[in-house]
Amino acid sequence: MDFNTTIAIIGGGNIGMSIAQGLVNAGKYKPEQIVITRKKSDLPKDLHEGGFNFQEDNADAISKARIVVLSVVPHIYEDILEGIKDVFTEKHTLVTVVTGVEIAKFQEKIKKDICIARVMPNTAIKIRQSMTCIATNKPKSKEFEEVKALFDMLGRTLCIDEELMLSATSLASCGIAYFLRAIRAASQGGTQIGFHADEAQLIAAQTAKGAAELLLQLHSHPEDEIDKVTTPRGVTIEGLNEMEHNGFSSAFIKGIVKSYDKAINKEE
Ligand SMILES: NC(=O)c1ccc[n+]([C@@H]2O[C@H](COP(=O)([O-])OP(=O)(O)OC[C@H]3O[C@@H](n4cnc5c(N)ncnc54)[C@H](OP(=O)(O)O)[C@@H]3O)[C@@H](O)[C@H]2O)c1
Repeated sequence: MDFNTTIAIIGGGNIGMSIAQGLVNAGKYKPEQIVITRKKSDLPKDLHEGGFNFQEDNADAISKARIVVLSVVPHIYEDILEGIKDVFTEKHTLVTVVTGVEIAKFQEKIKKDICIARVMPNTAIKIRQSMTCIATNKPKSKEFEEVKALFDMLGRTLCIDEELMLSATSLASCGIAYFLRAIRAASQGGTQIGFHADEAQLIAAQTAKGAAELLLQLHSHPEDEIDKVTTPRGVTIEGLNEMEHNGFSSAFIKGIVKSYDKAINKEE
């Protein structure tokens, strides 16, 4: 993988900046290798803030780079694409984070045979702990290998069929909010039973991390791990069943499906 390349991030908002910070945190890219664009009114006063190169001109940023990450909100992507489509050459790889926009739409506009990867990360990419789902038009190309290697540095990746991209949005990208809310709820419970808020949050967050690591490292099933904690007539099963009687699993499932329905309906 060529770590000397310049990366352009078109749209340095929440996810664009998180990707930029993740790449630098990985220690493979220097901030000055990353050109980030924003609207003029949104540019930082110091155009080298954090060592990154900020600018307003999307086309110029793309011409300086080989890998282009497009991370603007869906309702403006067409205008942005109109302004940059002719700048792409065979040397470019396009990575799109734009929710709900198919690879074919970019291909139609750009009209060049370049590798396009559609990715769905979450904000934990900033600390290299993202779950990133990826689809592409060129699964066997070295350019796609490069994109995958890049996101592998920023957490875990899974190559999926593009038709599952909105499912990935709900489960992985929106999902981080759902797990954060679960941790927050556990902290609130912890405070009610005696811990200061900061202590409760530490205990809840590390417990959630431990639970996730049990599954990721041991490849075990959640219910097998739960069975190890629930002694007969014990306090764990008492709490767990109370949560289930109040619809815990059902609320989580319904929330994810609702989010997916909303994403699908926005597309139509
Ligand atoms: N946030 C997430 O966790 C997440 C996860 C996965 C995918 N996504 C997708 O990623 C995309 C970006 O989301 P986001 O949350 O990062 O949105 P965001 O914070 O609003 O970032 C978008 C950025 O694009 C900038 N922008 C607007 N017009 C521009 C222009 N003409 N040229 C260059 N930059 C311009 C915006 O500036 P202004 O604010 O001044 O308009 C903003 O900095 C969306 O399609 C979203 O669905 C987001």
